[in-house]
Amino acid sequence: MDKIIIEGGRRLKGEVKISGAKNAALPILVSSMLTEGQCVYSNVPDLKDVNSIKLLLSTLGTSVNTDGNTVKINAGGLNNHKAPYDLVRKMRASILVLGPLLARLKKARVSLPGGCAIGARPINLHLKGLTDLGASIELKHGYIEARADKLKGAEIYLDFPTVTGTENLMMAAALAEGTSYIKNAACEPEIKAMADVMNKMGADIKGAGTSCIKINGVSSMNPSSVSIIPDRIEAGTFMIAAALTGGDFKIVDCEPDHLGSVIDKLRRVGSKIEISKKCIHITGPDEIISVDIKTRTYPGFPTDMQAQFMVLMSIANGVSTISETIFENRFIHISEIKRMGANITVSGNSAIVKGVPALSGAPVMASDLRASASLVLAGLVANGKTEVNRIYHLDRGYEALEKKFKLLGAKIKRVS
Ligand code: EPU
Repeated sequence: MDKIIIEGGRRLKGEVKISGAKNAALPILVSSMLTEGQCVYSNVPDLKDVNSIKLLLSTLGTSVNTDGNTVKINAGGLNNHKAPYDLVRKMRASILVLGPLLARLKKARVSLPGGCAIGARPINLHLKGLTDLGASIELKHGYIEARADKLKGAEIYLDFPTVTGTENLMMAAALAEGTSYIKNAACEPEIKAMADVMNKMGADIKGAGTSCIKINGVSSMNPSSVSIIPDRIEAGTFMIAAALTGGDFKIVDCEPDHLGSVIDKLRRVGSKIEISKKCIHITGPDEIISVDIKTRTYPGFPTDMQAQFMVLMSIANGVSTISETIFENRFIHISEIKRMGANITVSGNSAIVKGVPALSGAPVMASDLRASASLVLAGLVANGKTEVNRIYHLDRGYEALEKKFKLLGAKIKRVS
């Protein structure tokens, strides 16, 4: 199994180019199921999760061709309504095929995803919304068995603005008969990006990016070509690397508008940040100031940046409170960061981080995607050698992370 070895303590500088967003690419690739022609997607990141969704789409009968960061999908041959356990358990976002399968094939048999390292992660709101649209749903032997002769427009209220739930329901409602409203919808930029793609395909979706989305169902949709938006979490992770190492770099091909809360916090920490079109120039502070964060749905501070921000606070001057409000178990990285010398205590869903003068390199174990990124960041600033094990989590969501850090001057390598 691969691991990453880092000799910490270098000041990083240079320019880093941001890849396409994992969490936009996954639902957008799935939305190709809504049409019979060939869709072409560029700027698709080369990631394990993207490979998992491509494999699932092929299993369902679509043809998938990849050439570098371009992916062509033709769902003309979609003929299998079964998403098996072996594929769904590898990646929870596989649940996204449920809505399109119902819309196109009138039936779906999709494995229940189950929990994961960061929480129980139920999908009850996906199922409730599909029931509102007229689907009948049963849970049998670990599978969701869903049927709908005709999906019908409905008013759907989500108890929580679930991201993939909103995406799943947008796809089902796009081909339903009549008008649907998704209320208390997720507002993340990936939702807007996906609606833009679907509108280009002939869907009629208004209000995506706000908490009320109106969808007038259409009878069919057409293929289209689109480029995937930049990954805001990857960009945020590099911003924290700059703040941590007193670095100075330009983060290019990113979307600063999607990073408002992260930019605000990093300025309060003492970083100097200049924004221009698709570029963030960040200079880390001489002294990192402690700042509190509470994770929130967009445009609040993203849960996907919580672990990375905690590493920054672990060497700040002062005490910071970090509260996780989206997932119930997203503090698994703490025990590993503590092994590197951080002073962190947990009380309920909050972590109290008392800054220490320095972290020290150690062998550590990655437990989930963003936790892995936080350990790499910790290794970049720690004294001595850090060995990050189980980095397959990192490969699920960061394209060539260690190569990008190397170009910025880090002493980092991957070994088998
Ligand atoms: N929830 C329910 N019922 C549901 C759906 C969600 O109770 O039916 C709860 C969840 O248990 C959780 C909260 O709602 O406590 C938020 O979950 P959400 O459904 O919004 O998350 P998701 O759609 O499964 C996406 C991203 C995650 C990101 C979250 C929150 C994708 C593929 N995944 O997950 O990304 O953390 O939104 O922003 O878009 C990552 O990239 O590392 C990652 C985990």
